[in-house]
Amino acid sequence: MNRKPHVAVVGATGAVGIEMIKTLEKRNFPVGQLALLASARSVGKKLTFRGEEIAVEQLTRNAFGGIDLALFSAGSSISKEFAPLAAKAGCVVIDNSSAFRMDEKVPLVIPEINAADVKLHHGIIANPNCTTAVALMALYPLHQAFFVKRIFASSYQAVSGTGAKAIAELKRQIEQIVNGETITKEVYPHQIAFNVLPHVDSFLPDGYTKEEMKMQNEGRKIMHHPAFRASVTCVRVPVYRAHSVAINAEFEKPVSVEAARAVLNRAPGLKVIDEPAKNEYPQPLFLAEQDDCAVGRIRRDCALENGLAFWVSGDQLLKGAALNAVQIAEELLRERGSVPALERESVAA
Ligand SMILES: NC(=O)c1ccc[n+]([C@@H]2O[C@H](COP(=O)([O-])OP(=O)(O)OC[C@H]3O[C@@H](n4cnc5c(N)ncnc54)[C@H](OP(=O)(O)O)[C@@H]3O)[C@@H](O)[C@H]2O)c1
Repeated sequence: MNRKPHVAVVGATGAVGIEMIKTLEKRNFPVGQLALLASARSVGKKLTFRGEEIAVEQLTRNAFGGIDLALFSAGSSISKEFAPLAAKAGCVVIDNSSAFRMDEKVPLVIPEINAADVKLHHGIIANPNCTTAVALMALYPLHQAFFVKRIFASSYQAVSGTGAKAIAELKRQIEQIVNGETITKEVYPHQIAFNVLPHVDSFLPDGYTKEEMKMQNEGRKIMHHPAFRASVTCVRVPVYRAHSVAINAEFEKPVSVEAARAVLNRAPGLKVIDEPAKNEYPQPLFLAEQDDCAVGRIRRDCALENGLAFWVSGDQLLKGAALNAVQIAEELLRERGSVPALERESVAA
């Protein structure tokens, strides 16, 4: 089958959806036709792809006829309802939400780490949590060399990780503060401008948040490392775009800064920016809109055996979402050499 895939972006008007469209264009993904789907609120809006305006259509249960590949980023309840329908209608779904990530039948993929898992799909492939994706881009190569036992980490997560409304909230609150007005809150429980919130996603009975546990749970699945342990504190910061994670990792094998740096220098999708004497280290401001993540502040951890401390930053809308999803789609095309939906073994229930 030589036809170029008919692609749908579900959640096309959102923070991730917009990046999906840009990434498909930028990477010259062989899109035959593009359908842009969102809620009834967006019907009539037009978005540009390859210089052409495409009208946004409403997501409905019948929207997937003739579609080969659907990139979902409209939240987990939409994915739970519509992704199985899409798979049943014959297309492969790459889902950005948390809906299917821990489902045994659904591969959870970062192509630089476990690209081969793509071929195990039954109609749905999951994209990992954005903070986990950024962290693993540096942690996995180190794991391959030194075998990671556990990490302690704190994240510094941009507001765009919460979506388009949160970007607007930070902008609005900054303007309100500058104008001496009372701030208004719609997205976060507290002011985010000029503040940090040690609270991302909802709290679990043990005191961690769901977001914090994704690093361990998704990390185990992606790295094929069931004993991996991660104690994480996730923090929302008043940064528009690109997440950062401070990681203290303990390894099985002895590790030196020089050996770690050599490993990280060879890692795909990752830059090493680590010249403290010149004040050079990864900063979210400069990693926004960049495909590669960056690692720096690499040093021996003074409190762990065989430990390393380091700092990773990366654009979570790209490596944590749109770019990773399109890379998975490219992997599908490479694996199957044709339109993926037509080649898979069976369809998700
Ligand atoms: N932001 C990130 O960095 C990031 C990273 C990784 C994964 N994700 C995941 O990606 C998903 C979307 O995140 P986002 O940040 O792009 O959110 P967002 O900016 O709030 O966008 C949400 C999108 O979903 C659409 N939508 C909402 N309700 C809908 C409905 N009933 N029917 C059809 N479409 C509907 C919205 O359409 P309207 O404009 O019409 O409302 C919009 O296109 C979430 O599952 C999130 O967890 C986000």
